[in-house]
Amino acid sequence: MTHTILVTGARGKTGREVVTRLRRAGLPVRAGSSRPAGTDQVRFDWDDPATWREAAAGVDAVYLMRPDLPAAPDLVAGVVEANPDAHVVLLSEQGAETLAPDHWTRRVEDAVVTRAASWTLLRPSWFHQILTDPRFHLAAVRDDRVLSLSSGGAPLAWVDARGIAEVAVAALRAPDDHRGRAYTITGPEALTVEAVAKELSARLGHEIRAEDPVPQEAADGLDPWTAGILDDLYRRVREGGFAELSPTVKLITGREPTSLGAFIDAHLDAWRTPGG
Ligand SMILES: NC(=O)c1ccc[n+]([C@@H]2O[C@H](COP(=O)([O-])OP(=O)(O)OC[C@H]3O[C@@H](n4cnc5c(N)ncnc54)[C@H](OP(=O)(O)O)[C@@H]3O)[C@@H](O)[C@H]2O)c1
Repeated sequence: MTHTILVTGARGKTGREVVTRLRRAGLPVRAGSSRPAGTDQVRFDWDDPATWREAAAGVDAVYLMRPDLPAAPDLVAGVVEANPDAHVVLLSEQGAETLAPDHWTRRVEDAVVTRAASWTLLRPSWFHQILTDPRFHLAAVRDDRVLSLSSGGAPLAWVDARGIAEVAVAALRAPDDHRGRAYTITGPEALTVEAVAKELSARLGHEIRAEDPVPQEAADGLDPWTAGILDDLYRRVREGGFAELSPTVKLITGREPTSLGAFIDAHLDAWRTPGG
């Protein structure tokens, strides 16, 4: 049974849900943030290794959110080495097992698998929450009434970040039941961008247009490393690499994963403009 748990990315889409659930269960949590607010968060900054050591010292388990940086394999290795006895639950991505061993995603996973005494890998599909995230699609859907994602018409197995968090919490609380396992985590259905736009349109009562930009356009203005990562990501989307469904959420939590329609219904206000 786990006692103290470090959650990195504690304000992120999955991290905040992991923290909420662990605290609700009465477990001591160190909620790591690069900009901690209040006494219930600790400083965890990928730019400052001293903060990893302090945050990871003495914890029994770590929810580890990789940074989307070229150096992530080394940074993740450094955190694991700060407390190699802790059970590490790493947030990776769907299809990691199909990638070449020298692919960035695989090297991040290997940094954990080859160093941590105990680990679980989470490989989720695309999160519902990118539709309400201001850094992703929120403003475009709300203000421009467009959902733009380079997919070539391929479906994605959209998953609610809360389902991912529930699987993470199960693995953090009972490492013995999840040690050495890699879980693909998806929602209940694979939907194209066009189908998601239709769901949004039907529920919002006005049209949301689907756009399928060529990958180069989607990567416009980004640094070369991020552009390369996105190019590879969109290629995998087009090839159906995020389309396969997995029963993990039901198997681990006993509950059906949330559908995209239910997620949209619960967040309608996010995409409504005042008076719109
Ligand atoms: N979004 C998806 O659909 C999806 C699908 C599959 C896999 N993934 C993977 O899941 C991971 C999380 O993605 P996301 O979109 O969910 O992220 P997110 O919600 O935007 O969270 C990003 C987190 O990074 C933290 N952060 C930012 N700068 C930091 C720093 N210098 N040091 C430490 N922490 C820092 C932020 O917290 P503070 O600012 O509080 O530090 C925040 O909690 C990524 O590796 C992504 O590739 C995402």
